[in-house]
Amino acid sequence: MTVDNTLLQGEETFVSPNQIVLGVGAVEETGERASQYGETALLVASEQIYDVHGETVRSVLESAGLDVVVYDDVRPDPTVENIEAAHDTWERGDCDVIVTLGGGSSIDTGKGVGILAANDGDIRDFGVDRAGYEGVPNRTPPIVAVNTTAGTGSEATRSVVVSDESTSTKFLIVSRNVVPTVAVEDPELTVSLPQSHTAFTGIDALTHAVEAYTSVKSYALSDEYAERAIERISRSLPAAWANGGNIEARTEMLLGQLQAGQAFTNSSVALVHGMARPLGAQLHLPHGLANGLLLPYVVDFSAMAAPEKYAEIARLLDAADGSVTDREAADAASDAIHDLCEDLTLTSYLEDYADVPERDEYLEVVPEMTQDAIDSGSPANNARTPTREETEDLYVHLYDDAIAPALE
Ligand SMILES: [Fe+2]
Repeated sequence: MTVDNTLLQGEETFVSPNQIVLGVGAVEETGERASQYGETALLVASEQIYDVHGETVRSVLESAGLDVVVYDDVRPDPTVENIEAAHDTWERGDCDVIVTLGGGSSIDTGKGVGILAANDGDIRDFGVDRAGYEGVPNRTPPIVAVNTTAGTGSEATRSVVVSDESTSTKFLIVSRNVVPTVAVEDPELTVSLPQSHTAFTGIDALTHAVEAYTSVKSYALSDEYAERAIERISRSLPAAWANGGNIEARTEMLLGQLQAGQAFTNSSVALVHGMARPLGAQLHLPHGLANGLLLPYVVDFSAMAAPEKYAEIARLLDAADGSVTDREAADAASDAIHDLCEDLTLTSYLEDYADVPERDEYLEVVPEMTQDAIDSGSPANNARTPTREETEDLYVHLYDDAIAPALE
């Protein structure tokens, strides 16, 4: 088979986990895969996830002959201190391989431990704001990521998101040296995911796919993953949300979010993620909820810049067919995403998962959030390049249209 290089916009390196173990019962493989890489595993999880699946994973690791050291204090948005504490456990245990159990927070903590294990310096030194992209010099020790959400796609990506509590901000590390070695995707582990987090992580995954597809960094191969991800997630997310025990929907979601992760890590995220990080930090929103609130508004703002791409999104969402022009179909994309978010009752979660300030207070932080969004670099990848003023307007419109009405 020959590859048509004219499809690519120049040289591209497609990264991926070396092995992806997918299917009901995949978790049983964890021990055999991890034991290829050493004798002692650091098992990284939150206390909550460890309570549900910890002993299962521990026993498959031990059955494969591994000694297991546990760090089970991962927080929802892993902090600098979290990563340092987990790294201390790694060093004290003289570990060889990192096994993460959980979603993005556990995986990102595991990646952080790996960075500190293989490189000199403070975790802050590797953020893109200080070290740039590909700013991690040495490859982490092997990471086996046992995924329990669908999902951040972090088991397939070059990204680590870390909360810096000293500044109430999040910073991003991006390097191919942190991509996990093995991704374990067992849909049965996602059945216990609460309905709220099925919505948050599912809409995060859809955002990854949409942003990867429309990014100025997209190309033929990442597009293939993004298209299939949009299709899978949009069709299976409402079913997985409505009935968490639906294994078929859970399997499709796992595959869809994995493909979305593979798409964005080889293309990029864009304006939604750029704006969601500061919004999430200010309002204490879960990452996926922040993205889901922003996604329809940013799609509406961006569609004119790449009508053929947004039209395809609308068609993948079953919101348009071949009988309308690309521009007309593109305009339907944001409404279709809005409808999907409404199906998941996304804004209803603001009551329990957000600290919403008064409008005046919110307006005061809009310039700061806008600056943080611009500094992240993500808005520059957006199909439509936003000005500072347009970004500020989007934040204000979001508050008035989606965030504040939900409080009534
Ligand atoms: Fe995300």
